[in-house]
Amino acid sequence: MKNFENKSDLSEYLNSLRAHIGTIGFVPTMGALHKGHLSLVKKALDENDYVVVSIFVNPTQFDNEEDLIKYPRTLDKDVTLLKTVNKDRIIVYAPSVEDIYNTNVRSNSFSFDGLEFEMEGAFRDGHFDGVGTIVKRLFEIVEPTKAYFGEKDFQQLQIIRKLVELYQLPVKVIGCPIHRATDGLAMSSRNTRLTKAQREMAPFIYKTLVNAKIMFGTKSAKYVTEWVEKQFSKQPLLKLEYFIIADIITLKPIKRKSKKKSYRAFVAVYAGDIRLIDNIALN
Ligand code: PAJ
Repeated sequence: MKNFENKSDLSEYLNSLRAHIGTIGFVPTMGALHKGHLSLVKKALDENDYVVVSIFVNPTQFDNEEDLIKYPRTLDKDVTLLKTVNKDRIIVYAPSVEDIYNTNVRSNSFSFDGLEFEMEGAFRDGHFDGVGTIVKRLFEIVEPTKAYFGEKDFQQLQIIRKLVELYQLPVKVIGCPIHRATDGLAMSSRNTRLTKAQREMAPFIYKTLVNAKIMFGTKSAKYVTEWVEKQFSKQPLLKLEYFIIADIITLKPIKRKSKKKSYRAFVAVYAGDIRLIDNIALN
């Protein structure tokens, strides 16, 4: 498996490949890889000749210094895991902060037609400027044919689609379904930090989303939201930050249900100091 730390070495290698292959898929990650990430890598391998997986804990998308410091960094383990998926067609790019940002560790400022102000944007200051900055830079370095993003971070996926549209970037963005543990908890690098008791309680998040989806068939969004808030208020180990039913295109909270529109329910929850997010398609 080819492994690069330096953007010029990577792009030189990719250019040499491009001369005689069809497509390059790209899966950007922050490492601490799990089966959710691997599901994206497998899809990318199915659809492309080579797949670049970037592993980079991007400092500019963290609004919380402690979260950045505590973010798990497990590069050797990640590479070993990727080798179990495919040894010949995966290329790892694990740059340093300097390779990406030089000495200027700052985000550019983006306008994503207001998508950036909703949900995660409202609770994580500057987060999507950081995401936009890193993903745009990575696209420019890797120049992939297709790039794969999980619906686990649905707002991020829609923002990347907007980034590609606004800057007319020559890449096709592919959304991939949320990969869950057998008990329903959405896979996340943060799950490893949960205590045993928190981990046992965490599937409650998805169970509540599933119940909300059923309820949304007959009840109003307001009714469902209040019901969900009540369920979480009874959970001592989980603190609800938000539960929002939103239009999947604008990401704005639903006002009145329309049969012509598609909605998702989005949730952010704290288990101690660990922040978990999840979402579900409602119709
Ligand atoms: P990270 O959290 O490592 O996630 C990398 C990709 O894996 C994202 O597209 C995310 O949505 C997807 N993913 C994570 N857990 C998943 C799951 N359980 N099921 C399906 N997909 C899942 O998202 C980021 O990194 C960063 O913001 C990044 C895009 C790399 C920019 O720094």
